Amino acid sequence: MEFGQEIIAWYHQHKRSLPWRETNDPYLIWLSEIILQQTRVDQGLPYYYRFSEHYPTVADFAAADEGEILKDWQGLGYYSRARNMHHTAKLVMDKHQGRFPKSYAELIQLKGIGEYTAAAISSFSQNEAKAVLDGNVFRLLSRFFGFDTPINSTAGKKLFSDLANQLLIPEHAGLYNQAVMEFGALHCKPKNPLCETCPLQTACVAYQTNRIAELPVKLKTLKVRERFFNYVVLYTDSGLLMKKRGPNDIWQNLYDFPLFETSALLGPGELVQDSGFVKHFGSTVTVKNMQGPVKHLLSHQRLWAQFIVIESAVKPALDQDWIWVQAEDLKNLAQPKLIFEFLINFFKLNRN
Ligand code: ADE
Repeated sequence: MEFGQEIIAWYHQHKRSLPWRETNDPYLIWLSEIILQQTRVDQGLPYYYRFSEHYPTVADFAAADEGEILKDWQGLGYYSRARNMHHTAKLVMDKHQGRFPKSYAELIQLKGIGEYTAAAISSFSQNEAKAVLDGNVFRLLSRFFGFDTPINSTAGKKLFSDLANQLLIPEHAGLYNQAVMEFGALHCKPKNPLCETCPLQTACVAYQTNRIAELPVKLKTLKVRERFFNYVVLYTDSGLLMKKRGPNDIWQNLYDFPLFETSALLGPGELVQDSGFVKHFGSTVTVKNMQGPVKHLLSHQRLWAQFIVIESAVKPALDQDWIWVQAEDLKNLAQPKLIFEFLINFFKLNRN
């Protein structure tokens, strides 16, 4: 049997039953694909159910409030994805009469949809002959053919993309695409792949030459940026002091606390003497406790966050994006995961 047929035969026997595989609605497929770019299938499932129930159509999604969408997205990270989705949904209402595009050529024009996602949506919704190329497919092809061209190099992208399109079975593009990704995810796994029971074993170059563990090859990417966040936590009879985050940095429009970013971690004594701190809070505050540093990883940044819980006899001078939030209203405001976890602990909340 050929490569594609083997993979499809395997898929029929081993595939997981997943809700987005039961539909050809491009909008629902889009929801699932964007969620799955952020997280694994098991963690993505509850988000998929939440979004498809809260916003069953693209019209519902477009009409929703951004804060509500961010709140539903909370915990998935990379919040600009959720904002791009909202933008795209509104554009589909305005420019496509509310019909979510199905063709690769139209999909690729939309914000937040790249080559992978356009191939996934167009092949799953209308069987368009575009091969998907995600981490699973890179790994599978690199091992099967024994190619060590780095998958994140320009040459590697071209090589594997051409290969993927040659292997695609055009009459069954959607099925084939689901099958290669599933095979990569469940069988040709990054660690401990199931080579002993692999239907491709005899033809797999990496297996035959004992190079499974070396493939695929990936170039090391840019250095991550280290950042040090000192958060001031002040809870008074007016509520909890929070800050809405602005543009040009991570977490746009999410809520955190007044933040003093420094080039290294500060001790509590140092923070309360900082001129920016004194300007807002005065010089007579008491530090009740200090938590952290908590490490938080983003794609290109490593954050170290400290939470400095203070008491103050006088109310601080508020910046325009600072607000007092009542504890019961916290659930209505989207927060970065780091902040959400702190709040759960601070107020002894349950997660829902
Ligand atoms: N990961 C990305 N897309 C997927 C899909 N359609 N099914 C399972 N895992 C996926």
